[in-house]
Amino acid sequence: MGRLSSFEEKTAIVTGASSGIGRALALQLAERGARVALLARRKDALDALAEEITSSGGRALALACDVGDREQVSASFRAAEEALGPADLLINNAGYGGHRWFLEWDLNDVERMMQVNFLGAVYCTRAVLDSMVRRGSGWIVFMASVAGRIAPPRESVYAASKFALVGLASALSLEVENLGIHVLTVCPGAVRTPFFSEGDLEELPPVARRRMVAPEELAGAVLGALRRGRRELTYPRWMALAYAVQGLAPGFTRRQVGRTVLGERGGK
Ligand SMILES: NC(=O)c1ccc[n+]([C@@H]2O[C@H](COP(=O)([O-])OP(=O)(O)OC[C@H]3O[C@@H](n4cnc5c(N)ncnc54)[C@H](OP(=O)(O)O)[C@@H]3O)[C@@H](O)[C@H]2O)c1
Repeated sequence: MGRLSSFEEKTAIVTGASSGIGRALALQLAERGARVALLARRKDALDALAEEITSSGGRALALACDVGDREQVSASFRAAEEALGPADLLINNAGYGGHRWFLEWDLNDVERMMQVNFLGAVYCTRAVLDSMVRRGSGWIVFMASVAGRIAPPRESVYAASKFALVGLASALSLEVENLGIHVLTVCPGAVRTPFFSEGDLEELPPVARRRMVAPEELAGAVLGALRRGRRELTYPRWMALAYAVQGLAPGFTRRQVGRTVLGERGGK
């Protein structure tokens, strides 16, 4: 148990499917025979993706949904179940970033980011979990971030939303594993998607820019991790070494992270 050995005839719900990582995941799931419910706010982009999937023989349903809105989440998940059957796999991927000093954040924007990045995943997970428990089977993926394990400056609110996701996923995994439900936490490093504006890209440390991966590569690694029954995936994998270093030498890690992002001003 725990391994999702085949995606054939499985029902998958992917949030944030209109772009980047979610789009790549939806396409790869459909190619492997899954029926995919595509959720995001931009219906035109979802419709185009659903068309791309159905025209190559797959099955997809586009549902406009703001994951930060509980009513919209309930309605969309009901519609997905009616059309495609109960969810076998939920990928909590919808989210966005925000690079700024903590003092520059409007508090309404802080609330909104937690609402989407963290509570959105809570709402979506609650929308499928009862049914998965009844069936004694299910897979839930949380798209967190390396910033959910090691917090860089100018990412305070984003990192907090991703630390919250990692905490939720880790505890939930232990609560539901004996009920037949498998939780996978994914912590990507930098992925080449519209998540980064041109300005953000210029601000990225050169080392991070050089090591960015394509969303298709990450999506392949996520499906591979599900097939192998893994509970955590940091990608690229070598980045997980930094967690061990942080545990053993927190001061060293703090200085490195501060200097990488802020130059000489960071990390005393
Ligand atoms: N790119 C990276 O380097 C990176 C690294 C670590 C983690 N991540 C995480 O990976 C996930 C996907 O990011 P990405 O890189 O693929 O970025 P992206 O290309 O900007 O895609 C983000 C997706 O989330 C959706 N979304 C945003 N707010 C939403 C809301 N309120 N309700 C429903 N959907 C919403 C967007 O769709 P609409 O705008 O149509 O709603 C879009 O489909 C995010 O959770 C992000 O934090 C990304």
